[in-house]
Amino acid sequence: MPPPPLAAVLALALPHAAVSLAPVQSRTVVTSPSFEQFVELHERDYAPGSEEYSWRAGLYARTAEAVDGHNADPSRSWTASVGKFADYTAEERLGLHGLVHGEPGGAAAEAVDGSPVVNLAARREEFPKFFSWGHLRSLRQVKNQGSCGSCWAASALKALEAHYEIATNKTKTFSVQHLVSCAENTRHCGGTGGCHGATSDIAFQYILEHGILTEDQYPYMHRDDKCPSALAARSTRAADLGMLTWERLPENEYDPVVRTLVEVGPLVVSVAASSGFADYGISVYQQGVYDNCRQDAVLNHAMVLFGYGQSLKGGRSQGYWQLQNSWGRDWGEGGTMRMLRRIQSTPKEEEFYCGVDREPLKGSGCPGGPDTIKVCGSCGILFKGTFPRMSAAKTESPPVRQRHWFR
Ligand SMILES: *[C@@H]1O[C@H](CO)[C@@H](O)[C@H](O)[C@H]1NC(C)=O
Repeated sequence: MPPPPLAAVLALALPHAAVSLAPVQSRTVVTSPSFEQFVELHERDYAPGSEEYSWRAGLYARTAEAVDGHNADPSRSWTASVGKFADYTAEERLGLHGLVHGEPGGAAAEAVDGSPVVNLAARREEFPKFFSWGHLRSLRQVKNQGSCGSCWAASALKALEAHYEIATNKTKTFSVQHLVSCAENTRHCGGTGGCHGATSDIAFQYILEHGILTEDQYPYMHRDDKCPSALAARSTRAADLGMLTWERLPENEYDPVVRTLVEVGPLVVSVAASSGFADYGISVYQQGVYDNCRQDAVLNHAMVLFGYGQSLKGGRSQGYWQLQNSWGRDWGEGGTMRMLRRIQSTPKEEEFYCGVDREPLKGSGCPGGPDTIKVCGSCGILFKGTFPRMSAAKTESPPVRQRHWFR
């Protein structure tokens, strides 16, 4: 779908102006760079004068116009940027995702004997106002999937790296390429596997059964490759990493997401990356609290949820989730984003912000699955949460578990 004309983008921005209460202070409006500057900055290889050059220039101009229109609204809660995908077609932007959330109700791995189990239903406590795992050394590094739809692998491994650090205070960087090349998506859930999409379930289950190589052993190549079985045989076994199993949270419930985040560690979540702002979605996100998600959300991307908090906007607090993406450090807030977390009327308002994903097959469902699924939270963030379950630290004490962020 081609990006809409500017008028449509502005029309979308208006309701947003009506709900925000006061202008964001001291934000300078920077207009987008010229196409020539963009081409140089991002080292595009199409030559001036070529057919592709003028076609890309047209795509770029529409994105730049939309971005500048969005940023001209002083009451916006997030700032857009042409970023590095501004000359992509809508279809190419979809190729950046490659997610899948698997079947609704899909079972996690059988719990290994002796693994701790969170009692998700019984307790009801107050959660801290701010919470983040952003201090972890493993979260300071951001994966970059390139133009391969490997978000499912990158997010699962980032979550595993974080949980491994929480359990051992050591860091390892695991091989996204290993999962892209070797973890089969035989049922074609949300894609055909590798760079063409799979699920975090498939990633975690593969690691549990076959172990995982490090990035040094098998570096990322941004493309599908034949599984190198001799090399894969040198994988570190899940048990040797301390990974007992993996778990999947109940769908569309707020408390289990927050409790697991606070008590256990970061989670892989599914989001609609192309929801809102006339379908540019988060591809043009630069900074702030992204508040353009629509209720009906097509889940097509996986990210790592690692914190939450609230910031002041117009004298009222605006809740947010903190997510790490796998589009490199030069996207968003150092590779991460904040996304609106509704807490205005009740702390669990997110759970009541629901819509329908009418295209579960478009990057998320399995053939033969339901035609529609109910998704709740901003961009469907509460629909799915998965995480590795590690054994408790043995010799070393874990790092400080919590850091408050004030922005
Ligand atoms: C964790 O590791 C870091 C870096 O190796 C070290 O500085 C720190 O003291 C360790 N923390 C604990 C609690 O052992």
